[in-house]
Amino acid sequence: MSESQTTFIMVKPDGVKRELVDEIIRRFESIGLTLISRRDITPSLELAETHYGIHKERPFFSEVVDFITSGPVVAMAWMGENAISEARKLIGATNWEEAEPGTIRADFARSIEENVIHGSDGEDTAAFELELWFPDGLES
Ligand code: PPS
Repeated sequence: MSESQTTFIMVKPDGVKRELVDEIIRRFESIGLTLISRRDITPSLELAETHYGIHKERPFFSEVVDFITSGPVVAMAWMGENAISEARKLIGATNWEEAEPGTIRADFARSIEENVIHGSDGEDTAAFELELWFPDGLES
């Protein structure tokens, strides 16, 4: 069933440094999603730890937090039909070696950490992440 949704997408520091933001935005537009909000920021430690809080007991937690706070990211809200699952399809698997050909991670990721982009994995996560990264609301 088709449903209008809004999902949270972040181009990670590696994607920003490698100047992949415009190409990534083009790919999202090409699947019919609409960019409704964007923030270019270097995440604080608190923001990063909250975002990845679900992974806090995992061995890579401090590394992923260090990585995401290492430079500017582009936080975005994208809206459209089944935006959450459509965005995840476009992004590809977390492990770039398992990502489908033509996905953003298959084309650009270099490791499980430097995998260029994050996308919400479900409705609850999207709501949590959109509120976290856009505390003043969307369409800023
Ligand atoms: S997993 O492995 O299926 O639980 O991965 P996932 O829940 O999709 O996301 C894990 C996020 O942490 C980042 N990261 C790593 N994951 C696994 N192993 C290592 N070593 C690691 N280092 C960093 C990974 O890129 C996922 O980031 P997001 O932003 O959620 O895609």
